[in-house]
Amino acid sequence: MKNDNAREELISYISEKGFVYGPSPEIYGGVSGFFDFGPLGKLLKNNIENTIRKEFTKFQFYEIECPIVMPKAVWEASGHLSGFSDPLVSCQKCKSIFRADNLISEQSGDEVEGQDNKNLEKYFDGSKIKCPTCGEKISSKVSNHNLMLKTNVGIDTEMYNRPETATTSYLPFLNYLRFFRDKLPFGIFQIGNAYRNEISPRQHLLRGREFTQAEAQLFLFEEQKKDFEKFSEVENLKISMIKAHGKEIKISLKEALEKNLLKNKAYAWAIGITYSLFKEFGFEDSVLRFKQHEKMAFYADDAWDLEINLNSFGWTECCGVHDRTDYDLKVHSEKSGKKLVAAKENGEKGTPHIIEIAMGPNRILFSILDQCYNKKETDEGKTKLHLPKNMAPIKAAIFPLMKKEELQKVSNKIFEDLISDFVVQLDESGSIGKRYLRQDSIGTPYCITVDYDSLKDGCVTVRDRDSEKQERVKMEDLKNWLGKNI
Ligand code: GLY
Repeated sequence: MKNDNAREELISYISEKGFVYGPSPEIYGGVSGFFDFGPLGKLLKNNIENTIRKEFTKFQFYEIECPIVMPKAVWEASGHLSGFSDPLVSCQKCKSIFRADNLISEQSGDEVEGQDNKNLEKYFDGSKIKCPTCGEKISSKVSNHNLMLKTNVGIDTEMYNRPETATTSYLPFLNYLRFFRDKLPFGIFQIGNAYRNEISPRQHLLRGREFTQAEAQLFLFEEQKKDFEKFSEVENLKISMIKAHGKEIKISLKEALEKNLLKNKAYAWAIGITYSLFKEFGFEDSVLRFKQHEKMAFYADDAWDLEINLNSFGWTECCGVHDRTDYDLKVHSEKSGKKLVAAKENGEKGTPHIIEIAMGPNRILFSILDQCYNKKETDEGKTKLHLPKNMAPIKAAIFPLMKKEELQKVSNKIFEDLISDFVVQLDESGSIGKRYLRQDSIGTPYCITVDYDSLKDGCVTVRDRDSEKQERVKMEDLKNWLGKNI
């Protein structure tokens, strides 16, 4: 954890302004890992998801949607029931339960995520790790805690909330094959909620028990990875990368391939489009890096995380790019008895591989707010958030200079005209100065004031959040003007 104060301040600010409330349900005391998105949070989340939609669609992934709840057999086959767990320790004195690797990292500073239980236990043998609840030394064995959230369907059929959208995306493979007329590579993506029964989530939106995922899946044969043509579109992107156990270097994707940092063009392409997407969210290069997993998830052959350097929590994983090989289609073929195979160009049948881009819109949302809040301007306690304009929940606020019918009428007309294309807000209470401050504090890029001159010349004053410059714009041009500037 990087900065406790920054974290507390940010969390309270985003709650007060209407971005994220919780833990939810607040009036019943709240349950860790569950949150409400307020009006601004939901608008911001929509902007994030729509950007993901637009970009994935541009790269010819098609959106699909699958059920959240799936039968036990699916998770037995995928390996999640047996292999998807976190290491757990408990305090012998007060019986509090903790995630072992988090506790070690917090108290020793060592990064131990992904290490096996035996290694983790060494930290507890030394008895240096103390219970955060009662202060007693913890010397417990490390056990596995499965993250699957169980539910019952019908009277007593055991089913599970998905821990990732990915597995549910793989099951209709034969239907996709028909849609894509048996031609690989093809891509699909899904945006939806997933559930993980985390032991004691204490990182706000960064570790929810219910959270949204946006996961794209590229299906292709292994031999198609090497010569993946679209790679040329991203090959010159320069990206900060840290190989497992290595040092951070800034390198073009082309060089990363030549130096065997990345295994093939298809995987490198997935890294490239992920990076471009995060630039669309407005993150600066200096806070973005890709880091290779030291220990792969049970389904992955190669995995790199895109991490963002947050002021509140330090380097934080917001997206993973995984080469899942033919693992998933093979295990579901075996368990379901359906052959999840496709024909190659030479007519031979084979099991396709899958390259996955898995991101967390909630984490992206938190990260955008973290970055903007960190760089906010404050003047006598007044705050201005420089949210990227494409991400800002409200694009423009419309102010009648005074609460006078003739000014309100024109303001209402502008609102009606703009609202079909942009989320805009009418605000007529308080001085214009107060209204600017209110909008600055939630990152609204433009404020539009209707004054008495507007009634004569048909123009309004548009004030830019960042430069605070004002310009007169014809009312009839406002929609185009906003479209061009956002
Ligand atoms: N589907 C990959 C993940 O959930 O991280």
